[in-house]
Amino acid sequence: MNLPPATPTDANADDAATSVDLSDEAVHWDLGSSLSYSQYLRLDRLLDAQKPLSTEHDEMLFIIVHQVSELWMRLILHELRAVIECVRRDKLDPSFKMLDRIGRVQAQLLAVWEVLSTMTPADYSSFRNLLGRSSGFQSVQYRLLEFTLGNKHADVIEVHRHDTEAYAALARALAAPSLYDEVLRLLSQRGYGVPATSLVRDFTQPYEPSKQVTGAWLGVYHNAVKDWDLYELAERLVDLDHRFQVWRFQHMKTVERIIGYKPGTGGTAGVSYLAKALRLRLFPELWEARTSM
Ligand code: HEM
Repeated sequence: MNLPPATPTDANADDAATSVDLSDEAVHWDLGSSLSYSQYLRLDRLLDAQKPLSTEHDEMLFIIVHQVSELWMRLILHELRAVIECVRRDKLDPSFKMLDRIGRVQAQLLAVWEVLSTMTPADYSSFRNLLGRSSGFQSVQYRLLEFTLGNKHADVIEVHRHDTEAYAALARALAAPSLYDEVLRLLSQRGYGVPATSLVRDFTQPYEPSKQVTGAWLGVYHNAVKDWDLYELAERLVDLDHRFQVWRFQHMKTVERIIGYKPGTGGTAGVSYLAKALRLRLFPELWEARTSM
């Protein structure tokens, strides 16, 4: 008889333990001059970066949820830059692993809202006035992410005028072709009809969707067998855009739940401002093409 593989719950009660036996392990108790875990990860700095301004219990959650989100954004940016390089070189296979990773990181970014929703309006109000004008609106990495993905908006970098380094990095990302610009260039190189106006343009400006590009994507979907990698790329991009939209939606709903219709600390009207971004499409023709499939 074939038995299913053992799982931890199948463990015999006789094998149960109340502590782990280390006596037969060759643990390096003395690290000597070797690098340690905390040195490698710079934990002294990382774990020293949570500085609540109040004595309110929930402020720690608020800080950590933002910091974790910024760390995940850092990883997404790292992966995205490598994805763009793959697209430039027309070597899509390695990019799929990175796009897959980005999708899983986005899932982590979404999970953050679950944790944050344990904070009530009263919990947040108890320290909100200490935040001054600070707001996610000023997140440099979020803007870098938006620009790298193709959501160009020159005005938003003005809030960083005082920070020369951040401003320069944002201005560079604004002027550079986005992931979608590079993808369209590749489509054109592979013989799909992309209009010149979509290829040679002022990259600081928002992308203007075109019917011809929708047609090019329909071509990719119809030629999936011939250009499987482009077909797969199209689906990964839809995944990425979809998760980004869900993130914006969940952010907006969390904000609505916690501050109602109060204006934001960054100066916008709050929920109604966040709702505007729900209509954003990073890769518009990939959505448009679906109606004709
Ligand atoms: C209690 C929790 C939160 C509240 C009440 C809140 C509130 C807001 C509000 C009202 C805005 C609009 C800008 C403004 O006027 O301030 C905003 C923008 C933003 N927030 Fe949050 N937020 C919260 C949590 C988070 C978290 C955890 C992140 C993760 C990094 C985040 C990232 C952002 C970003 C990136 C923007 C800019 C969005 C855009 O301009 O499209 N927020 N937030």
